[in-house]
Amino acid sequence: MTEISRRAFMSGLGTAGLLAAGGTEARGAQASLKASAEAKGLLYGAAIKSSQIQNDQPFMQAVTAECNIVVHEWELKRNPVQSEPGKLNFYLPDMVAAYARSNEKKLRGHTLVWYYDNPQWIVDGLKARNPDPALLTGYIDGACAHYRGRIHSWDVVNEGVEPAEGHPDGLRIQSPWYQAFGAEYIDIAFRAARAADPDALLFYCEYSVEMASAMNERRRTAVLKLLERLKSRNVPIDAFGIQGHLKPFVNRFDERKFARFVEEVQGLGLKIMVTELDVADRWGPNDIAKRDAQVGAVTRAFLDVTMASPAMLGVLTWGLSDKYSWLSSYPEYKWPDGQLSRGLPLDAQLVRKPMYTAIAEAFDARK
Ligand code: G3I
Repeated sequence: MTEISRRAFMSGLGTAGLLAAGGTEARGAQASLKASAEAKGLLYGAAIKSSQIQNDQPFMQAVTAECNIVVHEWELKRNPVQSEPGKLNFYLPDMVAAYARSNEKKLRGHTLVWYYDNPQWIVDGLKARNPDPALLTGYIDGACAHYRGRIHSWDVVNEGVEPAEGHPDGLRIQSPWYQAFGAEYIDIAFRAARAADPDALLFYCEYSVEMASAMNERRRTAVLKLLERLKSRNVPIDAFGIQGHLKPFVNRFDERKFARFVEEVQGLGLKIMVTELDVADRWGPNDIAKRDAQVGAVTRAFLDVTMASPAMLGVLTWGLSDKYSWLSSYPEYKWPDGQLSRGLPLDAQLVRKPMYTAIAEAFDARK
C-alpha cells in the first residue's frame, strides 16, 4: 500500500477499519452527510445526471437524503447544450435544475469554459484567423442568463493549467481557448460571467493539485501563479475548486504539502470547495474491506486539511454511489476484471462505506 501520513492513516483506519471489520457504526450523531455539513455551516453534495432522475428513484432518494447541493456531471457542458451553432438546448440540464429546486438543493454550474467536451463547430471556429470572442462569451451569457438566480456557483474556467505543455507559467496552451485568445481568455470568461450573473460565486477549478508527486507540485505552482495573476488584474474570481480526484495507490498524500497550498489559496482571499471528490482505488488491495478502509483513511486525511481552512465552503463528491462512477469506465482507472471502482461514499447497493464515515467525521471534526 502506498504510504500516506501515519497520523491520517491511523485516525482514518481507526474509524474505517472498525467499520470494515464489522465493528460498531463509528458515526457521529448526524444522520446524513448534509446534516453533518450543515451543523458546521457547510455544504455536501454530489454530481448527478438527468438519466438518474428519470430512471433510478432509490438512488435519487439517497441523493435527496444526503445532499444539500448538486452539480451536473455532464449535461451543462458546452457539447451537450450547444452541439450545433445558435440555439442553446437546456432540456437535460433543466431536469437537474428542476430536481434541485423542488428538493431545495443548491445548484452548481459545471462548466462554462473547458478545453474538453466542446462541439466540433466551436473547435473549428476557434481555429479561424480572427476567432470571434462571442464563441467564448456567447455560451457564458446564455447559460448564466438562463440559470440566473438559481445557481450557487459556476465553474467558470475548468482545468486551465498543464505544465507538461511547456508554458513558462504552466498554462494549458493546447486549449483551443488559449490558442484562440491567449491567456486572457480566462479573464474574459470571468468578466463575462460576473456581468451575466452578479450573484453566483465564480470558481476556477483544477485537478491533480492534491497529492505529493512532483507533477502535482508543478500543477499547484501553476495554479497559484494563475490565481495571483487573476487577482492582480482584478478579475472577478471568488473561489478555487479543488477537484479532489485522489489516487492514493499510485501517489502519496502529504498533509503538509497540501496544507501549504490550501493556505496560499486562502491567502489570496479566495473561498475553497472540494468540487469532485472521489478515490481511484485501482491498484489498491484486492481485499475489499482493506481497500475500503484505505480509501476512507486518505479521504479523511485529505478533508481534514481542507476543513482546517476558514475559506472552506463544502465538499461535493463526483457521484454518490459506486453504481455511477466515471472511474469504473475510464481506461486509466477502471478495474480490468470489470469490478466497479469503490471510490464514492456509498457502494453500488447504496450502503455506506468507510469513505462515507470519513466524510461525515471530517465535517464533525471541523472546529
Ligand atoms: O449520455 C450520452 C449518450 O446519450 C450518448 O449516446 C453518448 C455518446 O458518446 O454520450 C453520453 O454522454 C457521455 C457523458 O459522460 C454522460 O455519461 C459522454 O460521451 C462522456 O464523454 C461524458 O463523460 C464525462 C466527462 O467528464 C466528459 O464530459 C464524465 O461523465 C464525467 O464524469 C467527466 O467529469 C470530469 C469533469 O467534468 C471535470 N473534471 C474531471 C472529471 C472526470 O473526468
